[in-house]
Amino acid sequence: MEAKIKLEIPSPLIELNHPLFAEKDVTVMVKRDDLIHPEISGNKWRKLHLNIEKYYDKGYAKLLTFGGAYSNHIAATALVGKLMGIPTIGIIRGDELNANSNATLAEANANGMELVFVSRSEYGMRYENDYKNELRARYGHVLIIEEGGANYLGAMGCTEIISEVDQNFDGIYLASGTGTTTTGILLASGNAKVYSVPVLKNGGFIKDAVRELLIYSGTPDELMDDYFEKLKVLTDYHFGGYGKYTHELLQFMGDVYATTGLKLDQVYTAKALFALFDAVKKNQWGRGAKILFIHTGGLQGIRSVEAMLNYSLD
Ligand SMILES: Cc1ncc(COP(=O)(O)O)c(C=O)c1O
Repeated sequence: MEAKIKLEIPSPLIELNHPLFAEKDVTVMVKRDDLIHPEISGNKWRKLHLNIEKYYDKGYAKLLTFGGAYSNHIAATALVGKLMGIPTIGIIRGDELNANSNATLAEANANGMELVFVSRSEYGMRYENDYKNELRARYGHVLIIEEGGANYLGAMGCTEIISEVDQNFDGIYLASGTGTTTTGILLASGNAKVYSVPVLKNGGFIKDAVRELLIYSGTPDELMDDYFEKLKVLTDYHFGGYGKYTHELLQFMGDVYATTGLKLDQVYTAKALFALFDAVKKNQWGRGAKILFIHTGGLQGIRSVEAMLNYSLD
């Protein structure tokens, strides 16, 4: 299946050499999922690929998914559909929009996705079984993938991020939006603690989202507590909320790039790596600690801030 798209899997694992880590004597490795594919990067592919296997196994006719006007998941699904010859439908929040409303939608449309613009109240029904059945009646034998790829197969696909790594870590840091990637990492994390950094305000909901996905994945009650002992949700690094950022965050992105060559995005990965740096600065990790940072991609979203960075990402 993957042969139809050129993917760098397993993704590379590199050491992040920064003076702070040398001073504190901690090792930080980065799982470069951003390098999987130039456009379907990071957790987008991880969350989609088992869903696509199911599409083929069960002989579905189309993939249908949901997203807002600027959804990376919509863009990635449309492109995967184009590259693999799979018809795709995107149910988009906002009936005032059209395929020319912004670059994300225009590109999804150009990649052959059928865009269906629905009212916010209709979009609000996207998790209801009756609504899903109505969509199946309307569009035929469609495989429905939840918004953001947030389903059981999405989480299971993300376990592979860790199973590709043959080293042990004390802690793993990553950004979270729906908690799907966090769930996959947690399931595969062995003895490492998992530090999930929500990029939305009031990110405490990530724990509930993870719990729900763990239940879907068949995690028995008696193991739940073990997982939640290992999971730390760091809710203080949202920098104002989804899509928001501060001068400090942009400076941090610039510093990391200048000293290590690693590019981050302001919506997700910079916030998570900032949390990791902060923990090391505050001596929350002792000498000799080994930490893994998951680079979940998102670099296509950096264009809007590039002019404000003191370097070019190209
Ligand atoms: C670059 C990037 N990192 C992290 C996330 C958060 O992943 P999740 O929604 O699985 O928590 C997303 C959203 O899917 C993303 O695009």
